[in-house]
Amino acid sequence: MILVTGGAGFIGANFVLDWLADCDEPIVNLDKLTYAGNLENLAALQGEARHVFVKGDICDRALLERLMAKHKPRAIVHFAAESHVDRSIHGPSDFIRTNIEGTFMLLEVARAYWNSLDENAKTDFRFLHVSTDEVYGSLEPNAVPFAESKAYEPNSPYSASKAASDHLIRAWHHTYGLPVVTTNCSNNYGAYQFPEKLIPLVIANAMAGKPLPIYGDGQNVRDWLYVTDHCAAIRTVLAQGRPGETYNVGGWNEKTNLDVVNTLCEILDELSPSSLGSYKRLITYVKDRPGHDKRYAIDARKLEQELGWKPAETFETGIHKTVAWYLDNQPWVDNVLSGAYREWETLNYGLRR
Ligand code: NAD
Ligand code: DAU
Repeated sequence: MILVTGGAGFIGANFVLDWLADCDEPIVNLDKLTYAGNLENLAALQGEARHVFVKGDICDRALLERLMAKHKPRAIVHFAAESHVDRSIHGPSDFIRTNIEGTFMLLEVARAYWNSLDENAKTDFRFLHVSTDEVYGSLEPNAVPFAESKAYEPNSPYSASKAASDHLIRAWHHTYGLPVVTTNCSNNYGAYQFPEKLIPLVIANAMAGKPLPIYGDGQNVRDWLYVTDHCAAIRTVLAQGRPGETYNVGGWNEKTNLDVVNTLCEILDELSPSSLGSYKRLITYVKDRPGHDKRYAIDARKLEQELGWKPAETFETGIHKTVAWYLDNQPWVDNVLSGAYREWETLNYGLRR
């Protein structure tokens, strides 16, 4: 049994689905179901005995203790977080609470549980912390990609909260010996991503005939990785990663935001043409994100050379699959865009116009 936190969100749900398709080991999935958590992502698992879903908060110590005592997991894979940079700028407190205090609580409960195990189980136990390349800060155009040795220079409330959680993870290994591993991954895309993030937002807006908002000049660079490749990397690090180590995960796919949006428009023009002409007509430049990091790029050679992981998808194959998934799953999009999402859209984009 493994304990997954945040397994109803974008990457966590992909991880849970892939894991249960791949092996027999059951999962207990703890998720608070915030606006970003969606049980529809896990609809394929209805009636699946190997998936135990628990609605709850990683800040709830008593709940965490009960879950550890009852399920006795051999590992924790920790995805649960507030994950959207723009939301962290508008309201950082949930980010401090979940990403820092929640990770602290999980570490404390994991430490007590780990101390109660026999020597073999103690050696085999793992706490895998899922983190981000944003902790490293922003790169100049010609600077080398982030290696694991790069100093932390987080710039947004989100990345600062993730950096703080990474430091807690490191310290719990160094001080208490807890067998932790951390992954720092670049921008993910794929099925089930909440349409507040660039790629699903652009697809959803294009389908609705709405503007495709580009922050600033569209020349900021992100390094894109298809979500199932990230999930495969996490499985690899869980199985083979050395306790106390960190592993960068990335797809060697640096693209400007404008290139990504143009590519999305071209695929949509092919798969779902509009009678009004190319979707590129909807591209709209809006006020920049405050403190907007210019460029991220990941050097993933350690993971490749030490543990043999490589991405299976290129950007071209992954982005085609992603657009096709959103076009085939319009009811999923309609459901997540209803209700509270409308308030966020008004808050974030109303101010930029
Ligand atoms: P997401 O926002 O889609 O999902 C987060 C999940 O965590 C949701 O299901 C939510 O309900 C749950 N959650 C939030 N607060 C919680 C709490 N207090 N207790 C229990 N559950 C809670 O996020 P994502 O994009 O799937 O990211 C997952 C993890 O991967 C995060 O830790 C994020 O920092 C990291 N990451 C994301 C990316 C990316 O491109 N999306 C890249 C690198 C790393
Ligand atoms: O790098 C990993 C990180 O990638 C993860 O840790 C975060 O959880 C994840 O949200 C993502 O952060 P970004 O800020 O890079 O992703 P987002 O999709 O919000 O934005 C991608 C780029 O597109 C960024 O440069 C901002 C820009 N953008 C975004 C939105 C939502 C726009 O130009 N317009 C938009 O409307």
